[in-house]
Amino acid sequence: MTEERDHGQTPATQGSRIDAYVDRYAARATGMVASEIRALFAVASRPEVVSLAGGMPYVTALPLDMVGELVSDLVTRRGPVALQYGSGQGDPHLREQICEVMRLEGIHAGANDVVVTVGSQQALDLVTRIFIDPGDVVLAEGPSYVGALGTFSAYQAKVVHIAMDDQGIVPESLAQTIYALETAGAPIKFLYTIPNFQNPAGVTLNIARRQQVLDICQRAGVLVIEDNPYGLLGFDGEPMRALRADNPDGVVYLGSFSKTLAPGFRVGWALAPHAIREKLVLAMESAVLSHSSFTQLAVGQYLASQPWQEQIKTFRELYRERRDALLGALDSLMPPEVSWTRPGGGFFVWATLPEGLDSKAILPRAVAERVAFVPGTGFYADGSGARHMRLSYCYPQPDRIREGVRRLAGVIEQEMQLRDTFGTGSVRDHQGVDTPGPDLK
Ligand SMILES: Cc1ncc(COP(=O)(O)O)c(C=O)c1O
Repeated sequence: MTEERDHGQTPATQGSRIDAYVDRYAARATGMVASEIRALFAVASRPEVVSLAGGMPYVTALPLDMVGELVSDLVTRRGPVALQYGSGQGDPHLREQICEVMRLEGIHAGANDVVVTVGSQQALDLVTRIFIDPGDVVLAEGPSYVGALGTFSAYQAKVVHIAMDDQGIVPESLAQTIYALETAGAPIKFLYTIPNFQNPAGVTLNIARRQQVLDICQRAGVLVIEDNPYGLLGFDGEPMRALRADNPDGVVYLGSFSKTLAPGFRVGWALAPHAIREKLVLAMESAVLSHSSFTQLAVGQYLASQPWQEQIKTFRELYRERRDALLGALDSLMPPEVSWTRPGGGFFVWATLPEGLDSKAILPRAVAERVAFVPGTGFYADGSGARHMRLSYCYPQPDRIREGVRRLAGVIEQEMQLRDTFGTGSVRDHQGVDTPGPDLK
């Protein structure tokens, strides 16, 4: 008997839930565990809950009729190509267009050095696959993107976090950590960094530090993986110059159309030095043969026929208004003991709770008060981060954001009172990476 049914007809799942193969999995699968907070997020996606948790782009701001026409026209005019297998490296014309997009960040590259991937998430997976043996070290900001930590854990990498402040990664911490690891004989494979409007911290690596980070890594022979899905979503001024623009041989750059167009196309890319790019193409072919020709051509058609830079401006303005709503509400409603970052772009604010409060323990109470966030522990590989939470402003309307902060501030105030009355509870052990689900990435 199965309890879940799809329209009362077909069983949604079949057979026993007991895992008969529990002792047969590869060692790397042991790190792949569903988060204990995943179930809570199912509740958090109910309409009455203000979700400051999800990292979903607001795709409704796209002219959807135009996208519909474009897709239909593509099938009519170029169906035999769009519906066919493509090359492992990706559509050559789209790769040229990607080079044009990257020029906005000072990158001058040839289409031959680009590999189109299934979102930048797949690029992350491929890079990790070709570089990481179990136990190898990956350096990453602390905190870092939960989807990357999940990938690193799946390949059994050891993630070592580098300190970050409101100007991005701290170069001294990077240099000291590399030195300590080298002295201990630990194999460092790469530095994974999100220099612009970081997920989850919302901070941006300043210009002076960019060169320092590159110099430190170059001296130590550490490859840099620059993950940059939010770089064109800055609210003030021109886009920052990419790390890759100043070191073509020492940086693999990952880009994506998920935030500047729509994640549903699943089109991202890696720009890599020649030898690495060749390995990435082989890894890509073994993973999926080739990316979808259909969505690659659709994105190519969009870039060729639509004012895509104007659309990015529309997104920027929309997200800026929501960022302002969130920061304004935090400023006026949060207890003074709570602090947070002030992002200049992207989707996320990183909040720090008063001493003795644990964001994961608070989450069920917050959801009961109809507001959700992502607890900080999901963004560290080592279980730290309990005093932090990620608040995203990309999806809810400004009014809802303000209401969400009002509810959250009430919950935090109550928690502080409980702490003052009963003292701090024990902070629970943390195991594995909390992966709240794709909509929350
Ligand atoms: C920092 C970062 N990298 C990569 C991704 C993956 O994006 P996609 O696979 O949609 O390109 C995300 C998604 O939220 C992200 O925040």
